[in-house]
Amino acid sequence: MRLTTRACHHFYPEYRSTGLRSPRHPLVNAPQTLTEVSGPSGCWSALMGQAEVDLTSQHGSAPHGQRIRISGRVLDDSGRPVPNTIVEIWQANAAGRYIHRNDNWDAPLDPNFTGAGRVITDDQGWYSFTTIRPGAYPWGNHHNAWRPAHIHLSLLGPAFATRLVTQIYFPDDPLIEIDPIANAVPMPYRNRLICRFDIDTTIANWALGYRFDIVLKGAMQTPFEGTANG
Ligand SMILES: [Fe+2]
Repeated sequence: MRLTTRACHHFYPEYRSTGLRSPRHPLVNAPQTLTEVSGPSGCWSALMGQAEVDLTSQHGSAPHGQRIRISGRVLDDSGRPVPNTIVEIWQANAAGRYIHRNDNWDAPLDPNFTGAGRVITDDQGWYSFTTIRPGAYPWGNHHNAWRPAHIHLSLLGPAFATRLVTQIYFPDDPLIEIDPIANAVPMPYRNRLICRFDIDTTIANWALGYRFDIVLKGAMQTPFEGTANG
C-alpha cells in the first residue's frame, strides 16, 4: 500500500508515544515479496477462526451499553469492492474499560463483553457487525487526556502488504477535536475516520446504525490511525 513514506508523517509531538515509535532516518524502500502482495486470501476463517459478527452475544447475557450496528464496504483505489477479506475489531466496553490485563483504569469490566470480533467481507465488499457503543477513557498522554469513543479496526485487504490499522470515531463527539491521536491525522482526512449515523443500517427497534466505508489505498484512502497518509 505504501512503498515509501516520509518519516515525519509518523511523528506528532502532541501524541507523545510517537516520539519513540517514529523513525528518525529516511525509510529504506524494501521491495515487497510475492507472498506479501499476493496472499493469503480466501482462507481467513481457516487461519483465524469463524467470523464473530455480534459482540453482544458472546456471553450468557447482554452487555451494558447502547447497541449499535456498523456496516460499510471495503474498497480499493478504483472504488472496486474488496471481497473476502477480514476486518478485525477491538474496543472498550460501555464504561471505557478494555478487558486487556494492562488496562487498570478504575472503571468496571463487563462480564458479558469481551470487545473483540472479526468479520469477513462478502462478494461486494460489505461487512457488518453488532456491538455496543464504547465509552471514552483517560489515557495519560497529558493532564486530563481523554480518548473519544472509538473502535479499533485492522484490515488485511487482499494481502499482508495492504494491512490497514485504524479507528472509527463517532459523529458529534466533542473529544475528537482535542484528541492528539485523532488530530495526528490532518483535516480533511480526519473526517474519513468518523462514521455517520444511517437509519438504513439500524436494526429496527433493536440497535442504532452507522455507516463506515473503508478505502485501502489511493486518493480516497482511509487514514491509518495517528498518521497522515503517506
Ligand atoms: Fe483504544
